[in-house]
Amino acid sequence: MNATIANDRNTDHVDLLMNKVESSADATARALVNTVLSPRFYTTRFKDFDEINVEPVRAEWDAMMVEYEGDNNHDHFQRDARFAQEVNQLMPQLTPELRQEFIDFLISSLTSEFSGCILYNEIRKNISNPDIRQLMTYMARDESRHAGFLNQSLKDFNLGIDLGGLKRSKKYTFFKPKYIYYATYLSEKIGYARYITIFRQLERHPEKRFHPIFRWFERWCNDEFRHGESFALIMLTGVNRLWIRFFILAVYATMYVRDHSRPLLHEAMGLHSTEYDYEVFRITSQICRQVFPVELDIDHPAMRAGMDRLVDISAAHQRAKARGGMIGALLQGVHAARAFGTFARMFFVPVKSHELPEQVRVAPVW
Ligand SMILES: [Fe+2]
Ligand SMILES: [Fe+2]
Repeated sequence: MNATIANDRNTDHVDLLMNKVESSADATARALVNTVLSPRFYTTRFKDFDEINVEPVRAEWDAMMVEYEGDNNHDHFQRDARFAQEVNQLMPQLTPELRQEFIDFLISSLTSEFSGCILYNEIRKNISNPDIRQLMTYMARDESRHAGFLNQSLKDFNLGIDLGGLKRSKKYTFFKPKYIYYATYLSEKIGYARYITIFRQLERHPEKRFHPIFRWFERWCNDEFRHGESFALIMLTGVNRLWIRFFILAVYATMYVRDHSRPLLHEAMGLHSTEYDYEVFRITSQICRQVFPVELDIDHPAMRAGMDRLVDISAAHQRAKARGGMIGALLQGVHAARAFGTFARMFFVPVKSHELPEQVRVAPVW
């Protein structure tokens, strides 16, 4: 175990415990929060989607539509009798701290799933391009199932989130369509990598599976993989290297800081947040070679040091926030500037370049 791993960096952990989620209202309030680290809802310039032409990839596109139509997960998101049994048996064994981290995991996962559902639905409603409309219908269908399934597990704790209210009340962030492709492609692929890494770990160590929802992750993550494939085809029209670097780094760094605020969750699965995250980065980077001609050097010492520094800065920022007053505000500003400087240095760590493959689509083999 190296020094970084041994060093317990539980940043917002104190914060999670101070702002416990104990009611549906608390859960909804957590989902509504918009910080640099929390999952967001997006809106975009819809009319641009009408201009997407999938003719150059027609054969692959049609094959993918057949897969969506076949809907091999239509019966997957239903809970069996064993599910309730396991919840009743396992949940009382969780410590209050782990329970809070798990609830936070359910809420942030639900918010990301629902974010996709809303975005895909809005795109569908606001365009006339039949190919893209059809794709958006299928993807919204999948994400709505995913969000609903997570919400059922929150309801077991009496913490169900009012999705209609969340849709109306949460702030929407505007992204240009081009950035939506990058960000969505990445979040689908990283979503796949996160779910499959947890599934494989608990497949090896079933005694550490402290909630039945993890048994659903294998077939679930194939939906996310396919969603990513759809954007891979759309993005074939050309990508911008600098923006890709920016988005990959932003998505990876956010995930790293966020996951290090839930150390007990990973520990309970027999993982460490650092190992888990680097495994997810490794899988995601491999997949992204299908469309991105550059990838981050995730093992570069400066990159690794930067990630850990961001975790520390986030913790210091939390403490400054808790302190309040003028000095607290001043310190928050200082830490935000440090985070920006760290991010900028990480951005300029040399990337690895490669030729794009002839064949775009890849199989979910992880
Ligand atoms: Fe999903
Ligand atoms: Fe998805």
